Amino acid sequence: MKGFVFGIFTMILIFALGLLFAYTGFIDMRADNPPSKIEASVAGHAMDANVARTAPKLTNPVAANDANLAAGAHLYHDHCAHCHGDPVNPKGPLAESLNPPAPQFMTDAADMPESQNFYIVQHGIRWTGMPGMKTTLSEQQTWELVTFLSHMNTLPAAAKLVFAETAARAQQSFNSN
Ligand code: HEC
Repeated sequence: MKGFVFGIFTMILIFALGLLFAYTGFIDMRADNPPSKIEASVAGHAMDANVARTAPKLTNPVAANDANLAAGAHLYHDHCAHCHGDPVNPKGPLAESLNPPAPQFMTDAADMPESQNFYIVQHGIRWTGMPGMKTTLSEQQTWELVTFLSHMNTLPAAAKLVFAETAARAQQSFNSN
């Protein structure tokens, strides 16, 4: 019994010390300061496990043809490239301004199952800079994006050109500002 009471007391103490640590300003709130290895590993596994458990196992209704991949490339350029990278900026300009940093899809493909990528794009990822797009993009657009993600590094020539051109145009207008 004594041990049990001592255990409870220790837990309350640890919890109180944690709160004190937070409330007195010792938690680093900077977004451009990367997470520790432990935090990145634990949070990454928790994220993967939750998405695997909760994402409905939907089948992608969008065919990977030139028109849909080109539509996906435009959407990606408008909504995703500044964090996840494109042919002109393989490292997205905002990649490391976020904690955790945004994965760079030109070198590290978004290779989770398509139903999981659909779920992530619709709902975003809590405690990260990854926004949920459900109110901004239709389901059709989200599937076009997901299809694009699955083929991003193996695009057929026509879609590859669209991707390269949208990225280059964005860079030009950025430079002329
Ligand atoms: C403001 C920056 C930002 C924008 C804009 C953004 N993302 Fe993300 N995204 C992130 C971050 C940060 C993560 C990493 C979250 C983590 O570590 O769990 C992420 C994770 C993801 C993942 C999971 C990848 C993986 O392998 O774990 C997918 C898929 C994804 N984003 C797709 C997209 C798509 C598609 C768009 C455009 C509609 C987009 N994101 C827009 C920041 C962004």
